[in-house]
Amino acid sequence: MLSEIKNAKFICTHEKMGERDTAAFATSFNSKSTPYDFDRGTASFRKTVELPEKPESAVVTVTALGIFDLFINGKRVGETKNDGSVVFDEYKPGWTDYHKRVIAYTYNVASYLEKGANTFYAVVSSGWWTGRISFGVYGRLDCAFILAGEAKCGGKTVRFSTDGSWEGAILGPVMFGDIWDGEFYDARISYGDVMASEKWMPADIFEGFEGEISDHTEPPIREKTQLARRPVSAVCYSGTKDNGTDHGEINVLYRKIGDGCEDTSLMPGQTLLLDFAQNMVGRPAFRVIAERGTRITLYFAELLNDSGEDSRGNDGPAGSAYVKNYRSAKSRVVYIASGEKDGEYFFPTHSFYGFRYIEAESSKPCEILSVTGQVIGSEYRETSSFTTSDREINKLFENIVWGQRGNYFSIATDCPQRDERLGWTGDTQIFSEAALYNGDVGSFLRKWLRDLRDSQLDSGAYTDVAPFCVAGAGNAAWGDAGIIVPYNVYRVYGDKAVLEECFESMEKYMDFVGSRGMEGHEARYGDWLAYEPTSKKNIILCLWANDADIMEKVSRVLEKEEKAEKYAKLLSDIKAEYARLFIENGEIREKSQTAYILALAYNMAPKDVLEKAAASLREKIKGNGYRLSTGFIGTGLINATLSRYGMSDLAYSLLCQTEDPSWLYSVRQGATTVWERWNSYTKKSGFGDMGMNSFNHYAYGAVCAWMFSYMAGIACDDDAPGFRSFVYRPVPDMRDPSALPDGQKRIDFVKASYDSPAGTISSAWTRTDSGFIYTLSVPEGATAHCRITAPSADKVTVNGFAVSDCAEISGCDAGCVGFDLTAGKYEIITENE
Ligand code: BGC
Repeated sequence: MLSEIKNAKFICTHEKMGERDTAAFATSFNSKSTPYDFDRGTASFRKTVELPEKPESAVVTVTALGIFDLFINGKRVGETKNDGSVVFDEYKPGWTDYHKRVIAYTYNVASYLEKGANTFYAVVSSGWWTGRISFGVYGRLDCAFILAGEAKCGGKTVRFSTDGSWEGAILGPVMFGDIWDGEFYDARISYGDVMASEKWMPADIFEGFEGEISDHTEPPIREKTQLARRPVSAVCYSGTKDNGTDHGEINVLYRKIGDGCEDTSLMPGQTLLLDFAQNMVGRPAFRVIAERGTRITLYFAELLNDSGEDSRGNDGPAGSAYVKNYRSAKSRVVYIASGEKDGEYFFPTHSFYGFRYIEAESSKPCEILSVTGQVIGSEYRETSSFTTSDREINKLFENIVWGQRGNYFSIATDCPQRDERLGWTGDTQIFSEAALYNGDVGSFLRKWLRDLRDSQLDSGAYTDVAPFCVAGAGNAAWGDAGIIVPYNVYRVYGDKAVLEECFESMEKYMDFVGSRGMEGHEARYGDWLAYEPTSKKNIILCLWANDADIMEKVSRVLEKEEKAEKYAKLLSDIKAEYARLFIENGEIREKSQTAYILALAYNMAPKDVLEKAAASLREKIKGNGYRLSTGFIGTGLINATLSRYGMSDLAYSLLCQTEDPSWLYSVRQGATTVWERWNSYTKKSGFGDMGMNSFNHYAYGAVCAWMFSYMAGIACDDDAPGFRSFVYRPVPDMRDPSALPDGQKRIDFVKASYDSPAGTISSAWTRTDSGFIYTLSVPEGATAHCRITAPSADKVTVNGFAVSDCAEISGCDAGCVGFDLTAGKYEIITENE
């Protein structure tokens, strides 16, 4: 970062945008008929910088309060790659707790600059700063901009930065931009018009930012070009036909499928409905030929209305975009064409969208040439692959991966589409282990942890959403993210830095939770969305015990033995309180699936009590037809806990379940991402409660961590984090074929790979007539501690040799053979008894 930015001034426009509406949060519902008229323009800034000659090098460090784009001499500024191509950071500067910090971006801009006058021009929309999404917590009026630059021109350094000599105005083609509500762009307003405008006035110095300007170290938000989607089908309809329902059905004029299906003429009164076949997050990029002034409106939807009936939650005719679940988010693109004869190309840069379908309407006849769904999110390397013999499980895995792509968007969000898109801490912690398998997201999560620390209350409570903007703080399973996530990141990367940077704040949180004696924190959200309740007190004590356990371990890693002892003592006090309240006659008193899971996952009771709990849980799951009754908390833990207690058969039965509630149920209902509710949409009854019904909510996708760590068997070695040493403990589907739950099949093979920080680990298993064949590849420099299910060591061969001839056999649990393997490729064959 150019240090000069510290001395530069934030500037804002003299003309004010006016007080923004910050009230709406699930108070109204999106509808295509909601008016969308904006005519003001967006905060814009400019300055002419004179250079004595074309510079040999030049950098600018720049950021804004609001989403910004910088243009130099009319060209959008991005990162110039070695081959001369330019990659753009999108939706800069992303979301941080702006009370504490904003991120600055530094660009090499020599290639943009010329000898003589150079025009710097920036556009800043509300973004996370004054947009509805931040509920007015930072500011309500001005967007602000700051820049510092220097250019080296033949031995001379020219410095420039934002101050009162810049000009500002509310104008330009971006008439309106808001994360929730979308973007209104008037392409008739050219760059030349903007520059010639009489509205420019000296900018005001903005005094409303008291935070720090931080360097940009986290992954930028970028377009993931390799994931871009074109529509797979197009339906053109005009009006509605009566089908005897409340809204009727769309009156289809024609349908087209396949490549180029969107290339068509669109008349006023017609609607073009495009299906991208994948619920994704990003924006449309389209090319059209339209008369100057034509108003093209795009609506976004995750699902289509299915019957036209209100009783099934439909908000329009069967076959049309269902938009109600965006709640008050208007989520739209309105584009006014400039009338270029050969066509014009546009994509919004001030709003993003969660959608599978787009509907386009036009005020005058126009030619739609192409529409691309650009996939956008925080950039990270994807690190996982997972296939099995079961097509629906493979689809579930893909859905989980897509959920992460869309919800890792500057911060880790709950959902990417409705009037929320917030950093709900509970969701983040529940999904974090899965996320760390699917992507190299260490630096992404460390950035989010900094947001969480920035928002931490003076009391020590972590807020329910980070960066903070709404809701409360200090809630079990939500606030506990501040303890769980750093530890999960450490387990995967083995880098103490994340613990060091969080430790003080973690301690502060523990002090907060402990400040009310054995009361602990609150549990406002309980086991969120569970089909069967679990008492809040139970949740509080179990989550708190887990915190204490992690704190003890973290203290030891950081060689703070005294603190480790303190947390060990706390853990035993919490367990004593748990025993007092929740153990009765040698049994766990609460009987919900989640209550049992919590007791088992966090070792809340003596061994004999846990054994009984495991047996009761088995009966409960069986009695529930091998279906879940858990909410966010229980679902995040259930399968791994079952496997830990030797009940992988049940974990498989839950995974392979296709009835409500289950992971595959939503797959059967057509899901292409993980849904917020098990029954967000059902073919039988239609749409779930529109008040809270996201079709891209990753929390339940947490099961992915079990899929890797038990099904494929690639797991952290908690004694040696970082995967240089890892545990290989594949648990194949060994259910008795004669006792499978109704309608279920056994899984016959799994094939997975994980690009761990220590290299790529691949693992596969296939069922044979007499046992299993496992293939494992251990990366260079790594060691796998294998735990292979087999009756005894003489039933195991490795690369053709009896395992006891080529490895030292270490004892592990009954029915399992343990040995170590160093780098290499292995075929491990087991025989049944
Ligand atoms: C969010 C959740 C979140 C919850 C808190 C919801 O509105 O979408 O995912 O964790 O509120 O209970």
